[in-house]
Amino acid sequence: MNSEIKFLDFTCMNAQVREAMIQQFENVFDSQWYILGDHVKQFEKIYADANEVKHCVGVANGLDALILCLKALDIKEGDEVIVPSNTYIASWLAVSFVGATPVPVEPNENTYNISPEKIKAAITRKTKVIMPVHLYGQACEMDAIMKIAEENNVYVLEDNAQAQGSSYNGKLTGSFGHINATSFYPGKNLGAYGDAGAITTNDDALADKVKVLRNYGSHKKYFNEIKGVNSRLDELQAAFLTVKINYLTEWNAERNVIATWYNEGLASLKNITIPALAEGSTSNYHLYVIRTEKRNALAEHLKKNGIGSLIHYPVPPHLQEAYRELGYKKGDFPIAEKIAETCLSLPIYPGIEKDEVDKVVNIISDFK
Ligand SMILES: Cc1ncc(COP(=O)(O)O)c(C=O)c1O
Repeated sequence: MNSEIKFLDFTCMNAQVREAMIQQFENVFDSQWYILGDHVKQFEKIYADANEVKHCVGVANGLDALILCLKALDIKEGDEVIVPSNTYIASWLAVSFVGATPVPVEPNENTYNISPEKIKAAITRKTKVIMPVHLYGQACEMDAIMKIAEENNVYVLEDNAQAQGSSYNGKLTGSFGHINATSFYPGKNLGAYGDAGAITTNDDALADKVKVLRNYGSHKKYFNEIKGVNSRLDELQAAFLTVKINYLTEWNAERNVIATWYNEGLASLKNITIPALAEGSTSNYHLYVIRTEKRNALAEHLKKNGIGSLIHYPVPPHLQEAYRELGYKKGDFPIAEKIAETCLSLPIYPGIEKDEVDKVVNIISDFK
């Protein structure tokens, strides 16, 4: 057992894939083809199959994936996109980058995921898209969300950056929406060794449009049909991800076991709220997030005892300087604000041992 417990430690995961990664590096290096080659094609096919969707389009990162999805849906100035009030800011930024307006909707206070009931109340004539974010790895209540979208004739774009392998009523996240985005940022459950992302969809026309958008707006080299960008998944990252995806199910299962250890150890503590799952939702436990009124003091106590923790996220998007223009103030989205003030993410990753989790639990139990 380590005396220090890092918030995230790649040692065990890296050891399992090390040889295969070196081999993949050599394969790409020797192929002499570094952009949009066979490795990207192969990974796109594997990821689409794994997610039970028709198409996967690899892109440079998760934020670009969201932006290109919105562009493919032709979302622009004057349009509204419903987003969670508590999410990583990328979900909102994508909406702003296409010139549309993010319309925040509060989460369910127990699951931290966007509340379907409150989505209904936020829909206007201008609403074009609902963007559920499967926060911390837990699937949103997708059946209710898809029904609301259908009744109101709006698109659904899932932000699946944190929830690879999670499901709602047996169906995988990233396969519900008209078009969906994910991130392979290194710390994600399916993480690359640099920036990477992808789009999933069952719609042939949308898949074709994002393929063109990611590559300068061009089907054929030097012939540009629309104004696209350069946001391609690179061959090296695709080659690495093709190996790593074989471990996703096993590593997600391990994260679920670790979450059970935490739940069992922390459930009886009066001042700690442990994570709750909605009926029908599973989580890949990308993050294990507790809540406590004395959050900052607890984080400090953990740090003093050599244990890493992080806050996801300390400031909700509506109170960020970047969103001052929308004119929101403290108190406008009280549930998101309360979560931001009280949440704390504990170490969870494949390879953390039971006695290390016990140590974290004991140190939290000792905290007064
Ligand atoms: C919910 C969510 N959406 C989008 C992103 C953006 O992904 P990336 O960092 O790959 O751009 C992230 C990851 O950081 C995320 O957690």
